[in-house]
Amino acid sequence: MDLGASIQGRHVLVTGASSGLGRHFAELCARHGARVTVAARRRDRLETLVEDLRRLGAAGAAALDLDVSDAASVTAALEEAEREAPLDILVNNAGIAESRPALDVEEDLYDAVVDTNLKGVWLCSTGAARIWRDAKRPGVIVNIASILGFGVTGSVSVYAATKAAVVQMTAAHALEWARFGIRVNALAPGYIATEMNAAFFESDPGLAMIRRIPTRRLGQPEDLDGPFLLLATDASRWMTGSCITVDGGHLVSAL
Ligand SMILES: NC(=O)c1ccc[n+]([C@@H]2O[C@H](COP(=O)([O-])OP(=O)(O)OC[C@H]3O[C@@H](n4cnc5c(N)ncnc54)[C@H](OP(=O)(O)O)[C@@H]3O)[C@@H](O)[C@H]2O)c1
Repeated sequence: MDLGASIQGRHVLVTGASSGLGRHFAELCARHGARVTVAARRRDRLETLVEDLRRLGAAGAAALDLDVSDAASVTAALEEAEREAPLDILVNNAGIAESRPALDVEEDLYDAVVDTNLKGVWLCSTGAARIWRDAKRPGVIVNIASILGFGVTGSVSVYAATKAAVVQMTAAHALEWARFGIRVNALAPGYIATEMNAAFFESDPGLAMIRRIPTRRLGQPEDLDGPFLLLATDASRWMTGSCITVDGGHLVSAL
């Protein structure tokens, strides 16, 4: 099965598409001819991205204002996306991390991480699932979790807890929504090289971390393409409630 062909013409909504992996997933879908709606808070970045998506071959491209932690914003964005074209695939990618020891995390920061990474997935997923159930249409949800949902390291205690919760929410939603033809799976990336972590991975602690990855390198966004397309398309038609780890073996590194 040609995974690229099976996303062609599908309407994909990617949250948190103004940078990093979200932008990458949006471009990947566009290259394979999907209709792509990108959503985040930084609208200016999305407008530029929409032009790029059209150039890459998207069947259509649109930008939406979205704060995933705000119920009214999520409802408005989903309604607007549906007006563009019936939505087929939701990619819950928006996420933030705290980067500080647990004892230095203030309540506001805790709330921001939980509201973005967990409440955001809940709001977007339940919103999309209601639309699909009411319209009697099938749907696909891909949640972007993390290997920090399975293992821990320092200075990401809240982030790690939210990602573990996303894995469990994936399973719970899959169970409840299979009867509506809605599949829910998760992708759990390991450390992927992005602009934001470039400085850390050039530092001594960063280089030491790379040495603990069995494949001795960071992931590149492209390393996620196959697993992402698998989960987003009918190639995974009998998969729901699964979480695929893509981490160069990091989670199985030797003790
Ligand atoms: N990079 C990695 O190594 C890695 C590994 C495992 C998992 N992940 C996961 O992959 C996803 C993307 O991470 P990334 O590395 O690409 O980070 P990033 O470059 O910082 O991108 C995060 C995106 O989330 C958006 N966002 C943040 N808060 C939001 C909100 N309240 N509402 C809507 N959008 C919001 C941001 O857009 P605005 O600021 O414009 O809203 C941005 O586009 C996250 O879920 C992350 O946990 C990343």
